[in-house]
Amino acid sequence: MIEARHLSKVYKARKGDRTAVDDISFSVGEGEFFSFLGPNGAGKTTTIQMMVALLKPTKGTITIDSLDVVASPHEVRQRIGIIFQDPSLDDRLTAWENLEFHGRLYGIDAESRRTRGNFLLEVLGLADRKDDLVRTFSGGMKRRLEIARGLLHAPRLLILDEPTLGLDPHSRRSVWEHIHRVRKEVGMTVFLTTHYLEEADSSDRVAIINGGKIVAEGTPDRLKKDLSSEMLTLETNTPEKVVTYLLESYPKLSGMIRKEEEIVSFPMPSGEALSPWDLLRALPFPIREASVRRPNLDDVFIHYTGSELKGQTSEKGVRP
Ligand SMILES: Nc1ncnc2c1ncn2[C@@H]1O[C@H](COP(=O)(O)OP(=O)(O)OP(=O)(O)O)[C@@H](O)[C@H]1O
Ligand SMILES: [Mg+2]
Repeated sequence: MIEARHLSKVYKARKGDRTAVDDISFSVGEGEFFSFLGPNGAGKTTTIQMMVALLKPTKGTITIDSLDVVASPHEVRQRIGIIFQDPSLDDRLTAWENLEFHGRLYGIDAESRRTRGNFLLEVLGLADRKDDLVRTFSGGMKRRLEIARGLLHAPRLLILDEPTLGLDPHSRRSVWEHIHRVRKEVGMTVFLTTHYLEEADSSDRVAIINGGKIVAEGTPDRLKKDLSSEMLTLETNTPEKVVTYLLESYPKLSGMIRKEEEIVSFPMPSGEALSPWDLLRALPFPIREASVRRPNLDDVFIHYTGSELKGQTSEKGVRP
């Protein structure tokens, strides 16, 4: 469905050029749920803008459904529904009018606009609000309406650029329930960016982009397993000493230890016949509390992007 090859984007800025996307290649299969994760400024939105022909790649190619995006922007846009990072509804219109406007723009005939519009409002839980002004909608309802609108022309690919940004946990869950429902009813490829990593947990595949480069790719399960089988979290009065000790004893942990105030967490060093309890017993410092858990996508994300997240590491080998 999506095929990006050696894709790059360089923005011309007053103080020299800025490479926002740096020679990335990836592909997303038909029907796949693909998450594109990365810290602020990593290049996610820029990549999406190239996918939907709003920006021209500086180098490389991108095809959607085997169509070259640069050569056939209109055909490509017909195949894509996009929910932009910044809200783009008209507040002064009703939900239905927003759909109508979009439907006409895409040249959808009146009968399809009516049947599909009603169907999507139903699936997205907005049927009873269709004649209300969007101004009166909550953030979550607006997002759901944007999704309905993005799907009106029956695209095969839905692109969601931070669809739940700024929503409370309840609205976020509701938006996701609706996205999953739509996927089940309509069946389509989903390309997602989000900073709420648990939202990416159910995706088929994840790519992590950092500083314009793809730094990791795989199924959520694989990425977690590659990081470690277990994460250890310690609470201690002497976090600096614990970190120094860990780095001296297990050099492999360099760059993998996170310290937040008195909490130190890290993956169990790989390749050592060592249990968390052995490691704890060997620690020559008092530990107030310790817990072991499986890695999650947050751990994976921080592992691949952590040092860049705040610009630099605060201590050698330690992530802030
Ligand atoms: N129009 C532009 N002109 C110049 N530089 C830009 C422009 N748009 C984005 N950039 C720069 O390109 C880089 C990537 O930005 P992009 O918006 O793609 O990041 P992102 O991964 O979507 O971040 P976020 O998570 O904050 O949305 C950043 O350094 C940004 O400052
Ligand atoms: Mg963005």
